[in-house]
Amino acid sequence: MGQGVAVVGTGYVGLTTGACLAHLGHDVTCVDIDAEKVASLERAEIHILEPRLRELVVEGIRSGRLRFTTDVEGAVEDRSFVCLCVPSPQAADGAADMSFIRTAASSIGPSLRSGAVVINKSTVPVGSTRLVEEALGRSDVAVVSNPEFLREGHAVEDFLHPDRVVIGADDEGVALQVVALYVGLVAPVVVTDPASAELIKYAANAFLATKLSFVNEIADLARELGADIDDVVVGVGSDPRIGQNHFRPGPGWGGSCFPKDTRALLHMAEQAGQELQVLDAAVRSNEARFDATTDRIERLVGGLRGTPVAAWGLTFKGGTDDLRDSPALAVLQRAVERGARVRAFDPTVTAGRSVGEGISTVDDPYAACEGAAVLAVLADWSEFGSIDLDKVAEVMTVPRVVDVHNLLDRQTLERVGFEVARLDS
Ligand SMILES: NC(=O)c1ccc[n+]([C@@H]2O[C@H](COP(=O)([O-])OP(=O)(O)OC[C@H]3O[C@@H](n4cnc5c(N)ncnc54)[C@H](O)[C@@H]3O)[C@@H](O)[C@H]2O)c1
Repeated sequence: MGQGVAVVGTGYVGLTTGACLAHLGHDVTCVDIDAEKVASLERAEIHILEPRLRELVVEGIRSGRLRFTTDVEGAVEDRSFVCLCVPSPQAADGAADMSFIRTAASSIGPSLRSGAVVINKSTVPVGSTRLVEEALGRSDVAVVSNPEFLREGHAVEDFLHPDRVVIGADDEGVALQVVALYVGLVAPVVVTDPASAELIKYAANAFLATKLSFVNEIADLARELGADIDDVVVGVGSDPRIGQNHFRPGPGWGGSCFPKDTRALLHMAEQAGQELQVLDAAVRSNEARFDATTDRIERLVGGLRGTPVAAWGLTFKGGTDDLRDSPALAVLQRAVERGARVRAFDPTVTAGRSVGEGISTVDDPYAACEGAAVLAVLADWSEFGSIDLDKVAEVMTVPRVVDVHNLLDRQTLERVGFEVARLDS
């Protein structure tokens, strides 16, 4: 039977959670402090790029099971479950900034009905379930940690077909109530205590980030040793203990989660008097990689001062519109600091949008390349692989490309006469 659910925060996690829970048959009210966002969501206008999300929002609105509001108290007062999906950005000292969670919890506390369950889906440090309990100020309400593992660009698919559902609760009965919310989903369920659930999320992200730092360093070594990194990745990743997912080299990792979550975990460990040497090295390796990628662009073109640079791909990875902590922008900012003039194209960035000082944006991949001395392909949008490279070469002053994801066809680049820096060259 459908339950009454409120979802606080309508970003990547909150909107996906709300739309998917309505799809599963629950009666959902999504609430956000951003009135403009709520107004567009009421018209089923989705502010983020996620396959199937609009379809589910439309379905939810039409069925009457999905509503949007800015009225926090009204949204939660008669609800059995309230999901917290608000930001947990990085604070100045590297820790997770808990102010959004604290504010959201204190704003809903007085309006919750007795016996309600507050489900924390934000990524928050160990101990945060207690912090939420305190901020709610309600001894008759339960708080559960239920970290979210969805990937941007696959959010709906991941929510409806999760690898696992993790629930951290003090009371097993409450945990089972939350399990029942995911009725119809087929996934292993890990029911544990709140501290373990909170640590699972950080350890998972830290491991994935470390895996990427590792494969990035192997790509550098492959280049020095004359090995083909594409083949190395397949050969190594075919071992199921390692896996090919999240095992592709690139310009460094970024996005709205890995940078802040790795630092928050390092901070948590430091507070606990524990060193995480492997993770620390992975983070440092990643920071160095942005400079190294900029160095490669500079070396290929022979100096960046006054050089027109074209860039394809600005988002933190292909298939999303999220620019937060994007490696592409980190590399381009460094190029601008060294004197480059950058013109960039990204399938999700409208022409003229401001993405950083010294970087102009256009809505066509060829326009980005006009008069450029080098092209940097910085995010793994698969459609870049089908762009006409003859046409690209014609509009550049010299056809040169740094292809950090090995997306462009090697033979075509050679035939057209590009000077190329790929991952392995
Ligand atoms: N984005 C991801 O891929 C992802 C994946 C897993 C977990 N997470 C975690 O989920 C959390 C949310 O991330 P996100 O990417 O969805 O964030 P987001 O920035 O896309 O969305 C957060 C939303 O919360 C709203 N908000 C802030 N304070 C509020 C309040 N007091 N009341 C109501 N709404 C409020 C904001 O206006 C915004 O719309 C973070 O802790 C993040 O680490 C994110």
